[in-house]
Amino acid sequence: MATQQPVKVAIIGAGYVGATTVYALLLSRAAAEIVLVDIDEDRARGEAMDLAHAAPFSHQTRVWSGQYEDCAGATVIILTAGANQKPGQTRTQLAETNYNIFREIVPRVARHASSEAVLVVSANPVDVLTHAAVTFSGFPPHRVVGSGTSLDSARFASELGRRLQIDAASIHAIIIGEHGDAEIPVWSLATVSGMHIRDYCRQADLDFGDEAMERCFEETKQAAGRIIGLKGATGYGIAAELLRIVQAIVRNENTLLPVSCVGSYAGVDDVALSVPRKVNRDGCRDAVPLLLNEEEQKGLGESAQKLKGIIDSLQS
Ligand code: 2OP
Repeated sequence: MATQQPVKVAIIGAGYVGATTVYALLLSRAAAEIVLVDIDEDRARGEAMDLAHAAPFSHQTRVWSGQYEDCAGATVIILTAGANQKPGQTRTQLAETNYNIFREIVPRVARHASSEAVLVVSANPVDVLTHAAVTFSGFPPHRVVGSGTSLDSARFASELGRRLQIDAASIHAIIIGEHGDAEIPVWSLATVSGMHIRDYCRQADLDFGDEAMERCFEETKQAAGRIIGLKGATGYGIAAELLRIVQAIVRNENTLLPVSCVGSYAGVDDVALSVPRKVNRDGCRDAVPLLLNEEEQKGLGESAQKLKGIIDSLQS
């Protein structure tokens, strides 16, 4: 039986998200080797040194700072580099700045990446940058996985869990479309213990009607903006999500996660947005053919049109 190659992960960007993701990978024993690359080499070196001192408390993991050529041999390469939202700024307002950063860094990553490596994108606007990473890397779309609305879906389940007094892990409720203002809650497929969420609330005699549902979704959608307003940036939620994506890839899990991937959605071609896809060693090739109601399908189309407009404007 072929021996499993030790897992190497490369992270481009040693900022808050990049360093927190290394920490999450380290404590979860997800990789044997983690290389951190940043244009600010001292920052990368300092973070790697500090993080390497966590390894003895967890698991023999080689954490070091390197250059783009050190992406060679990495199973997963995570692109966190880019400007972050400032309080009050939308993800979309970062598009041009981060598109130009990706134009610069992605070819340098792709040049050294192996033909099986999977790119994971977390910089914002993540759907636009997932598309940009496909364009600038030449990778097939399924080997470029955008963090997308997995984090929104986790926030959605947390909000629901808080209101219904249930562990968020026991609630199946997803957000699809743009990771941003045009995201869509898929209420028609939201379940608790196999029951539709409305049926669950009726059976459990819980007062959770349309107004409460709308408030729950709004809290979800505004979460990042509120956190950024309070502490300047988000980091732990996205890092935990990136860990989950890396685990699904390196363990070839076929986990269904709402991740962003270039494809055709609601009649719009060549655009990236999130629907649940199988995440495995091959990236995120297979999308789940969701049975959406009319309102959700319309929302997905609006999301796709919005993102397509931004992508086309950047490429013009
Ligand atoms: C988040 O949703 C800022 O997109 C980032 O936490």
